Amino acid sequence: MRNKTVALLGAVALMGEPALAADPAAIDWSKIPAKSITLFYPGQSTYDWLLSPDHKKGDKQVAQGKACLSCHEGDEADIGNKLVKGGALEPTPITGKNGTLPLSVQAAHDKEFVYFRMQWKSQMNREGRMHDYVRFDGKEWKSYGSYRSHEKVRSGAEPPLYEDRVAIMLDDGKVERFAQQGCWLTCHNGMRDAPKMASKDAVKKHPFLGDAGMKKDEVLKYLAITRSDAEASWDKPKSAEEIAKLKAAGQFLDLMQWRTARSNPVGMADDGYVLEFRLFDAGANPFASNIDGKTKLPKYMFDAGKTGFKALRAEDIGNAAKPAAVVREENAAPFDPNAGWKEGDILPGRLISRADAKGSAADNDYAKGTWKDGAYTLLWRRKLDTGNPADDKIMKAGGVYTIGIAVHDDNVTTRYHFVSFPLSLGIGADANIKAVTLN
Ligand code: HEC
Repeated sequence: MRNKTVALLGAVALMGEPALAADPAAIDWSKIPAKSITLFYPGQSTYDWLLSPDHKKGDKQVAQGKACLSCHEGDEADIGNKLVKGGALEPTPITGKNGTLPLSVQAAHDKEFVYFRMQWKSQMNREGRMHDYVRFDGKEWKSYGSYRSHEKVRSGAEPPLYEDRVAIMLDDGKVERFAQQGCWLTCHNGMRDAPKMASKDAVKKHPFLGDAGMKKDEVLKYLAITRSDAEASWDKPKSAEEIAKLKAAGQFLDLMQWRTARSNPVGMADDGYVLEFRLFDAGANPFASNIDGKTKLPKYMFDAGKTGFKALRAEDIGNAAKPAAVVREENAAPFDPNAGWKEGDILPGRLISRADAKGSAADNDYAKGTWKDGAYTLLWRRKLDTGNPADDKIMKAGGVYTIGIAVHDDNVTTRYHFVSFPLSLGIGADANIKAVTLN
């Protein structure tokens, strides 16, 4: 009998790690303390603004590296509620938007993983799980719905359809000032939806960022150390060689995003980093375009044999009983242009696949969020050592790191999110957020 049991255990061990040990859903979260964090609306408080005289009595000390919290402890709700309504730091407010988002965070770890459980209320009474849709107008498939700050949504012409997200920025002490000033280090004038936003044309013509280089048409997050001038201007990057040296020295930030539309349908989060731009890790994401660049037609539709429908309709928005994502290995069929499409049929512009996610970009292999009665619960695990130090921060038990957390709630993008001041994360060590050691 005993031998049999041993043999059985051996067989289980051979099948890989015991399934439950690394399963965030198997943790007794009622025993893990919850930290309540007030995420707040930052508007256009870019790093440039923080260094300007408009940041009264804060500018000089920010330039010297002083911590935001040394002056702003307890200010989160005041700042968020004020900025969200409009004014110098928010020229185009979204009517009725909340100024803060209270987030509950629990954390635990074992030898291999750190685990998070996050809970928050969404402003809208449906999940923000539709993103980049296209609609058949009787002749062509055209972009449909968008983020709340988009003109066509503000005017009421099209519905707000943009994914909700949780982003975690992580550092191990190698990025100077991140522990004091957090995400603001990555936020500069010239970026999309920031003051003095660079035009598409200007970015495309830029030798480093544009058509001849990185092939970008907008500016996203970057670190000042990647720029050659004192103002850290978007268009003054250092050379590729200098930037590669910074990366090799670990002077980048890890940035992971759980995305309700683009990663949650396959239980994942993406994995990126911030250095000269916001970039994805090596490998492949769980999401790709579902639109053929030449024909402008979708590549995949829903497999009606599995879902009962080949496309959604506007009246399905918010119907949790129907899948909103086309997942290649689950419910996708190659798009058939002659399938009898009707005006108003809508399809996702993104193709989701767990099977296609590869390499360092696929490290966040368990990030599952559910939305119920107006609130999200998200379970997320991350390997302490992903084995990919080139674009990840490697953590270890006993270590203390710095994280910044952001939530994009209610179909928004860019600055219309809620953010935290930098927080310390202890892997079994005391910190703002302590990941409790599991036995
Ligand atoms: C030396 C103290 C000091 C430091 C350090 C500091 N600030 Fe400030 N900050 C201020 C003061 C003072 C104000 C003006 C407060 C007011 O008008 O009520 C302010 C205003 C702001 C506002 C606008 C709030 C409003 O009510 O309009 C934001 C946003 C802000 N700070 C963000 C930051 C961030 C982010 C950091 C860290 C990178 C930071 N501050 C660091 C002192 C500081």
